[in-house]
Amino acid sequence: MLKGVIFDLDGVITDTAEYHYQAWAHLANEIGIKIDKKFNENLKGISRMESLELILKHGNKADAYTKEEKIALADKKNNHYKELIKKMTKKDILPGIENLLQELKNNNIKIALASASRNGPMILKSLEIEDFFDYVVNPVHIKNGKPAPDIFLDALKGINLKAYEVIGIEDAIAGVEAIKRAGIIAIGVGVKADVRVNSTEELNYDFLVKVAESYT
Ligand code: BG6
Ligand code: MG
Repeated sequence: MLKGVIFDLDGVITDTAEYHYQAWAHLANEIGIKIDKKFNENLKGISRMESLELILKHGNKADAYTKEEKIALADKKNNHYKELIKKMTKKDILPGIENLLQELKNNNIKIALASASRNGPMILKSLEIEDFFDYVVNPVHIKNGKPAPDIFLDALKGINLKAYEVIGIEDAIAGVEAIKRAGIIAIGVGVKADVRVNSTEELNYDFLVKVAESYT
C-alpha cells in the first residue's frame, strides 16, 4: 500500500535543471571548457563539488586548480545560479506537481524531499510548497551522494516508512539508481526507471497508486 512519496527537486518539481546547466556552462566557458546538454545529463543529481570535478575532468583540467580555487569556482557558479532562480515563483512549479502534492496530502500520504541541492529549502519556499513536506533531507549530512542510496534511505527514516511503502520520483539517471539501490519503486521523468513518464503532467495520485499496486 502506498504510504509515502519521495521527490527529487530539480527537474521534477521545478525546471531548475535548466538553470543549473546555464550556470555551469557559463563557468566552464570562463575557464576554457565547453559543455553541452548531453554532457550535462551526467551532472543531474550530482552535488555541486562533484559536478565541478566532472567538468574539470571533461576539460582535461582535473589537476589545474587547488582545493581553495575549486571552492571559489563552485561558489561562483552557485552565486550565478542563485541570481538565475531569484525570480522563481509558484508559476515555476512543473505541470501536475501542485495538484499531486495536494492529492497526496488529502490521502494522508507522507511527502519527503531527497534533493542533493543545498538550495532546496529556499526553492520550496519560493514555490510556496514547503508546507506540503513532512521531511526534507539535509544533503550536507549525507555522506555518499546519488547514485548511492543514502539520501533516499535518510528520507525513509525521516517519514518513518519502509522502502516497499513508498515511491521515489526522479529525473536523473543517478537519482533513479539511488532510488533502486534503496529498494524503492522508481518513477523516472524523462528517464528510464521502473515506470517512465515523459512529463510531470502524467503524475497524479491514482497513477501512483496503480504503480505501487503493480509492484507489490
Ligand atoms: C541536484 C541537481 O538536485 O542538486 C544538480 O540535479 C546540482 O544539478 C545539485 O548540482 C546540487 O545543487 P546545489 O543547489 O546545492 O548546487
Ligand atoms: Mg533532478
